[in-house]
Amino acid sequence: MGIWIWLLALLAVFNIKNIPFSWSVRFFRALGCGMLLHRKAKAIFKPHHVFLPAVSTTRSPLMEIDFNLHKSNSTFFTDLDVSRAYLSGVLLGPLFLHGIDGQRCNMIVGNVACSFRREIKPYRPYETWTRIASWDEKWIYMVTHFVEKRTDRPARCALLPETKTVLDEKPTVSEGQKGDRIVFASAVTQFVCKKGRMTVPPARALAECGLIQVEKQRDEGLDLDSLRNDPSLMPQSRVSSAGRSKGSPAEDLNSYLPRDLEMVRAINMPVVRLIEGWDRVHALFCEDEGVLGLHRDVI
Ligand SMILES: *[C@@H]1O[C@H](CO)[C@@H](O)[C@H](O)[C@H]1NC(C)=O
Repeated sequence: MGIWIWLLALLAVFNIKNIPFSWSVRFFRALGCGMLLHRKAKAIFKPHHVFLPAVSTTRSPLMEIDFNLHKSNSTFFTDLDVSRAYLSGVLLGPLFLHGIDGQRCNMIVGNVACSFRREIKPYRPYETWTRIASWDEKWIYMVTHFVEKRTDRPARCALLPETKTVLDEKPTVSEGQKGDRIVFASAVTQFVCKKGRMTVPPARALAECGLIQVEKQRDEGLDLDSLRNDPSLMPQSRVSSAGRSKGSPAEDLNSYLPRDLEMVRAINMPVVRLIEGWDRVHALFCEDEGVLGLHRDVI
């Protein structure tokens, strides 16, 4: 009898990622760690940080292995949840805590698409790099890359004071993959920010989190206050028509972005809409620009 308990315990320890309630623990731990980092780093956020990735490290235990003896394709999606939770905490933490006008917001996932390239062997450590790649009037598009873990080249963290100075560079549009890490898989997630039943335009959400600023001198009376009566902050059914009408404040917000950010957003748009094929999505991986934060998922 005794030996079975021990074997069971051992099995649980080596598959801690897949025991009951593990998903919730992993998810909320990642979200919480992200939100803590947001709080610590609030003062040094710069607009170009919007496009930087947050990195989670994990491994695939036996329970995630399929008959090919590598990580089962279906299990990439739980890793995606955790990785996105961490990035959401780091960038969008205030939306979950204080919300907008005192009402908390929710992120609702609409689409996830994943392309598999290489196998991941059992217990091999790997990293998930998730970042915001683009957004339109309604959807935020996050891209996640599953990449090999490299100990020789640890990621530089943009939100830690000691490494911050080297990273005050402007964002670049990546042409092809920089660095030589293996990309095992890439995924695009499309989600919407909801305040109650209202859709919050992504640019507004990012502005509320202090990530992008509306340039005051260029606007004619458009500021965040005027957006509180925003026509596209209306129940779902009316967003599609209201959001498309040219000149709605929410849509105009993007034209108040710093020009280089707006350029990155616009160039990435056809890529994350998968119009240009998966190679372009894989090629969005770029490790040279530094990362927002590092998170250790359960191993
Ligand atoms: C997982 O995806 C890879 C790449 O597309 C494929 O070769 C493999 O057969 C898939 N595994 C299963 C069990 O379908």
